[in-house]
Amino acid sequence: MSKLWGGRFTKPTDKLVEEYTSSIGFDVKLVLQDIQGSKAHVKMLGKCSIITEEEAAQITEGLQSIEKKIENEEVEFSVEDEDIHMNIEKLLIEEIGPVGGKLHTGRSRNDQVATDMHLYLKEKTNQLIGLVEAVQKALADQAEHHVETIIPGYTHLQRAQPVSFAHHLLAYFWMFERDKQRLQDSIKRIDWSPLGAAALAGTPYPVDRKMTAEALGFENVYPNSLDAVSDRDFILEFLSISSILITHISRLSEELILWSSQEFDFIELDDAFCTGSSIMPQKKNPDVPELLRGKTGRIYGNLMGLLTLLKGLPLAYNKDMQEDKEGMFDTVETLDGALSLLAPMLASMEVKGANMRQAVNEDYSNATDIADYLAVKGMPFRDAHAVIGQVVLYAIEQGKYLLELKLDEYQQFSELFEDDIYEKLAPDQVVAARSSEGGTGFKQVKEQLDLAKKHI
Ligand code: ARG
Repeated sequence: MSKLWGGRFTKPTDKLVEEYTSSIGFDVKLVLQDIQGSKAHVKMLGKCSIITEEEAAQITEGLQSIEKKIENEEVEFSVEDEDIHMNIEKLLIEEIGPVGGKLHTGRSRNDQVATDMHLYLKEKTNQLIGLVEAVQKALADQAEHHVETIIPGYTHLQRAQPVSFAHHLLAYFWMFERDKQRLQDSIKRIDWSPLGAAALAGTPYPVDRKMTAEALGFENVYPNSLDAVSDRDFILEFLSISSILITHISRLSEELILWSSQEFDFIELDDAFCTGSSIMPQKKNPDVPELLRGKTGRIYGNLMGLLTLLKGLPLAYNKDMQEDKEGMFDTVETLDGALSLLAPMLASMEVKGANMRQAVNEDYSNATDIADYLAVKGMPFRDAHAVIGQVVLYAIEQGKYLLELKLDEYQQFSELFEDDIYEKLAPDQVVAARSSEGGTGFKQVKEQLDLAKKHI
């Protein structure tokens, strides 16, 4: 059989053109959605008497038998038939004869491909939501064990103030919570059916668009046929959300890489999630978080690619739009891989609480607390800040930490210092004291953890 659109042509398509313009190499991923969309369409054609119910039943059976053959890997798709839509239609006609040619009544590949992508992305978005939640759960489980584990908190990657390790982990929990909510919210905008918009202008057949939308599980139908076939916002939105999500994955990965270095030595990733070096026998490399960090590039790239692709396109369909798919598939698959690894890697990492504690003991991250101590005793905070700056300088010169200075050394800087300064400077006290809402105080972190658990 020649091309489904061959009637108007006098020459066969150039082989290079055929290969260059075909999309079957990648849109084959939409095969199940394509058949699902066709089944809903043909049922509607029958119900609306656009074709007979008998013809509709024959076509449905044909589609089912093609589906079976695909499952059993008995089908080979061909570049000559350009894309998944024409491949399936061709198979259908081969399977049930000329009546198969009635499937495409009142429909175009333009609304068909858009429908396929809406179906695909809705399903994948729901799956990704589950995977994000698994990461959140791994973070919350680790946090549960480490409310009272203290780690240096950093600004400018310089030791700043100690924090509960659970607090640090929960910061990522909330980032992923926002990602999850964004994904959930985006479904509202994926949930529109383009089917029945036909090529661009609608169709003279009395199609029932609500019927197909309902059969496919869509909430709404696009109210404008031009918009229905030209809209790729739902993919752009998915790629944007994905870009933010991978940013979070990348930042967390960066911390895991730092923390597992000998310089930090705060965690150890499980052997099952690391790899070795072909030359240096001692190496245990954090390849997984490195790759997660590295995958960010392609996900941002896919967003930029689609934004650029769409920016100059006149309405309605243009062949350029065939380029909308690979980036979407790649982002779905990249995120699926990343999230599937991240959850068990977090769950299995060993937290070296003693090393974290030792790091906190060997820094000046309790300096703010001495300034607060003087401020509580009446010194304006700005003056207290200056005094403690002097104290820190003095301590560094003496080669001592703040807890090691004697009371008379403190009193050289201010007479307000008394014996109770030492309790205030103890790391647990420094953390516990940060009791403002959302702060790292242990009680507040426990409350935060309870709140987090309600989201998973
Ligand atoms: N393979 C095409 C795509 O993915 C399907 C739509 C083709 N429509 C057309 N008018 N050529 O964009």
